[in-house]
Amino acid sequence: MTKVCIIGASGKLGQYMVRHALDKGYEVVGVCREESVSKLDRFGERIQVFPGRTDDREIIRKAVAGCDGVLTVLVPWGVEDYASGTAQAVLDFAEPAARLIFSCGWHITRDGKDVYSWKLRTFVKLFGTIARAFRFADLNDQVEACRRIFDSDTKWTVVRGSDLEEGESQGLPVWSRHVGDPILASNLTRRIDFALFMVGALENEDLIQEAPAIVGCQTSSALAAG
Ligand SMILES: NC(=O)c1ccc[n+]([C@@H]2O[C@H](COP(=O)([O-])OP(=O)(O)OC[C@H]3O[C@@H](n4cnc5c(N)ncnc54)[C@H](OP(=O)(O)O)[C@@H]3O)[C@@H](O)[C@H]2O)c1
Repeated sequence: MTKVCIIGASGKLGQYMVRHALDKGYEVVGVCREESVSKLDRFGERIQVFPGRTDDREIIRKAVAGCDGVLTVLVPWGVEDYASGTAQAVLDFAEPAARLIFSCGWHITRDGKDVYSWKLRTFVKLFGTIARAFRFADLNDQVEACRRIFDSDTKWTVVRGSDLEEGESQGLPVWSRHVGDPILASNLTRRIDFALFMVGALENEDLIQEAPAIVGCQTSSALAAG
């Protein structure tokens, strides 16, 4: 892995990923909305920034050219298919052999075998309905984005994040295939470690065409699972 593109680089997860990717010695290219470019100032010349919406196909085409890894923050903002537009552009334009890593939440299921708590089910239902009614987000579009990724024969990984918190790194999160597995019960990951998992996945062949659900390695459920 030598050159990676981070799509959604200016957000909280994105900035952590930039840090981890630079620490690994990768050449880093980032895409973020024009109004957010200054959030990346502290990285200076160490990254090349393509200003633009992450569903702008022309921007994505240019940004991913020559990258052997693409890290994409999938977000459901607005009601104009932002997440699926982003995912489709990455699937269409990334180099055929590139590792493609996407972020999303536990609410995404690959095979329908995830077992969700009433709390998560209620949150998704309520937030989904209110967000769509007020037109600020469309959770179904993040589902559609992931459906397209799961159907693709690229070297994808969809990393499904638990609830997140800030704080110092505790190390690489642990993962499991299904929400509801005991190891995931604590439902908490430090955002910096979510980013660590995303960047680490670039060089982890075992995660190709997997949708790991992750949890912090120091949480009680992870420790109990040994
Ligand atoms: N938050 C959670 O508790 C949680 C839990 C599990 C999984 N996740 C997943 O983690 C990933 C990162 O989420 P996060 O909550 O931590 O947020 P984040 O890293 O801060 O990322 C938010 C992203 O959305 C962009 N954005 C914000 N408002 C936008 C708008 N109106 N139109 C277009 N783009 C907009 C931001 O770009 P700008 O910098 O330009 O604003 C940024 O790239 C997502 O894939 C999410 O599904 C989050």
